[in-house]
Amino acid sequence: MEKSPQWGTRAGFILAAVGSAIGLGNIWRFPAVAYENGGGAFFFPYLFALLTAGIPLLILEFTMGHKFRGSAPLSYARLGKGKEWIGWWQVAVSFVISTYYAVIIAWAMAYAVFSLKLSWGNDPGTFLMGDYLDRIDLAGGEIGQFGNLVPGVFIPLVLVWVVALGVLFAGVKKGIEMANRIFIPTLVFLFLIIVIRAITLDGATDGLNAFFKPDWSSITSSKVWVAAYGQIFFSLSIAFAIMITYSSYLPKKSDITNNAFITGFANSSFELLAGIGVFSALGFMAFTQGVEVKDVVSAGIGLAFVVFPQIINEFPAFREFFGFLFFTSLVLAGLTSLISIVETYVAAVQDKFKVSRTKAVMLGGGLSALISLVFATQGGLFFLDAADYFINNFGVALLGLIEVIAIAWFARELRNFQKHADDLSDIKLGAWWRICLAVITPVVLGYMMFDNLRTNLT
Ligand code: PHE
Repeated sequence: MEKSPQWGTRAGFILAAVGSAIGLGNIWRFPAVAYENGGGAFFFPYLFALLTAGIPLLILEFTMGHKFRGSAPLSYARLGKGKEWIGWWQVAVSFVISTYYAVIIAWAMAYAVFSLKLSWGNDPGTFLMGDYLDRIDLAGGEIGQFGNLVPGVFIPLVLVWVVALGVLFAGVKKGIEMANRIFIPTLVFLFLIIVIRAITLDGATDGLNAFFKPDWSSITSSKVWVAAYGQIFFSLSIAFAIMITYSSYLPKKSDITNNAFITGFANSSFELLAGIGVFSALGFMAFTQGVEVKDVVSAGIGLAFVVFPQIINEFPAFREFFGFLFFTSLVLAGLTSLISIVETYVAAVQDKFKVSRTKAVMLGGGLSALISLVFATQGGLFFLDAADYFINNFGVALLGLIEVIAIAWFARELRNFQKHADDLSDIKLGAWWRICLAVITPVVLGYMMFDNLRTNLT
């Protein structure tokens, strides 16, 4: 049994935190969310959410894990009586996400192989995906068969779990840290090649213009603010028990505040880079089809597995190569996030039931791997979309709200946390940090949830 595991180096921790943050959300979620919520104007609510909620909460979670040295449930239990459930709730949400996140990575892996021969043919929309997209359009219609595995996804899914659980078996330093040391630099390198190619394609400027064009009227809409907070929380893996778990492995002397700033800015930089790459490519696609950029914008499964293959098909040269690069990037970005989500329940099970890491990985990881098989069937894909929608639109904000209120108002720990972080860093937090967490974030989140409910109910 690994005794109180620790990161080997500071860079190792930062890479792991950044690896968790940079995921599918950065590549296929952010570009479309920004576009649909005001384009260039979206950066205002986005930056506001990053600076007043994202980074302050990262500092909070890093401090919590570092101070209490436990998985999320154990850390919440040490925070105060009767709070352990908050940790379990976060772990439970992470568990659910992991079961479908793994399936998406498996799809990406399958598509990386497909791209070597452009197996999706001239009309990627009808290849594997076609059936599924039709069913989504048929609201209320038949949603496909459970038990019918989508062809080509089973073996990649097994591989995804073998890699993820293999890394977790190997432990924090030899497993998680090592994997991120390899995957993250590789990802950044591959992605830079893709972006450089994308911005030099015909029509790229049209795509970028569409992406950055500000719609200032959107700033007063609560939907846009919900989107900004949702994106920041999901993208930074906040309120999912992850950052608490990862920071519980930090050595005693660690500059928490500085680490949080690096993680936050690295994640947003990658997000911006992905926005530029994706919209350049969409601009190219609109150009080749002679339509407007707005007609080709999409996100999520449709963007990655229908629109991107179409774009690859149109590429002037090295189509197989760029297809392979793109899908491999998705796999790398996804794997490092998946590893972090699974680690939350591996750590929680270890703490609670006093079992070895190996047993916890077999138990927790094995169970989610089994459940993920359901999402790899045609019927499961429908629920994958639904689960993703629900978690992003309601789950994250609620978990974040409960977290700040529990720590700031019930446990009244902010001053102690601040001292803990300030003692370790040259960057002193000051009152602004407490105001962000105790006042601004709960007020904004509370109002948003209320307004969202109100407009959804009427
Ligand atoms: N942050 C990851 C992303 O941007 C996703 C993620 C969310 C990972 C929640 C773990 C938990 O895709």
